[in-house]
Amino acid sequence: MLKLGVNIDHVATVRQARYRGASNGEPCPIEAAMACEAAGCYGITAHLREDRRHILDQDIWNLKQALAIPLNFEMANTPEMVGIAEQLKPTSVCLVPEKREELTTEGGLDVAGGIARIRETAQRLQDLGIEVSLFIDPDLHQIEATLETGAQAVELHTGPFAESFTDSEAHLAEELQRLTRAAERGNAQNLKINAGHGLNYQNLHRIHTIPHLSELNIGHSIVSRALTVGMSAAVSEMLSLLQTHPQDSRKPSHV
Ligand code: PXP
Repeated sequence: MLKLGVNIDHVATVRQARYRGASNGEPCPIEAAMACEAAGCYGITAHLREDRRHILDQDIWNLKQALAIPLNFEMANTPEMVGIAEQLKPTSVCLVPEKREELTTEGGLDVAGGIARIRETAQRLQDLGIEVSLFIDPDLHQIEATLETGAQAVELHTGPFAESFTDSEAHLAEELQRLTRAAERGNAQNLKINAGHGLNYQNLHRIHTIPHLSELNIGHSIVSRALTVGMSAAVSEMLSLLQTHPQDSRKPSHV
């Protein structure tokens, strides 16, 4: 089955809006993550940003301790974050680009422009048994560059797809084709294919044509929905949508 990773960053965003600088406060991202786990999601994703704008160091360590399901640690490829990941030993690390001024992760990683540094990090983390994934735009040259880094997985950036969802059908078809081409090329080279960013309850059914998907990372829409129906129901509703993915009836390329 297509796996659901819930990104709980925005639970911490709400907490930080009131409790920045405090050592506690509500809502608690760990409690939220545990509710997601109880609702049956595959894993939890959290991004420790350089500016600590939402998830804090203590959250990452508490998540690692509290969760029985995989923790996907999203991070920039900096010496500080690599050091934390080496100590933390999450199930997986997703390397993302980070700019201070952006509201959320905006574009994919420029793998082609930084192969040597990414290769070094991927090797260090993979040697510790941590799966390394690169968050990339669904472009063939980024897939080719990923292969040169030795990373085992990619997370295809679905943001442009999500934006095209409310645009013309032609634009949407173009973005789906980009994602499909990247997924096919990556899978042919034995990369695990994940996807995420901007996926929601309305647009999810349109990604059902993309082959070889393993995990989807979804945050904002689930956390938003949880405000009205609760985290457990929000996750269950998303899981039901994932179950209608045709991938379910096929053998996934990577388990
Ligand atoms: N994947 C990555 C790499 C992200 O940085 C994020 C959060 O920006 C997500 C997935 C989840 O995106 P969203 O919150 O739009 O579901």
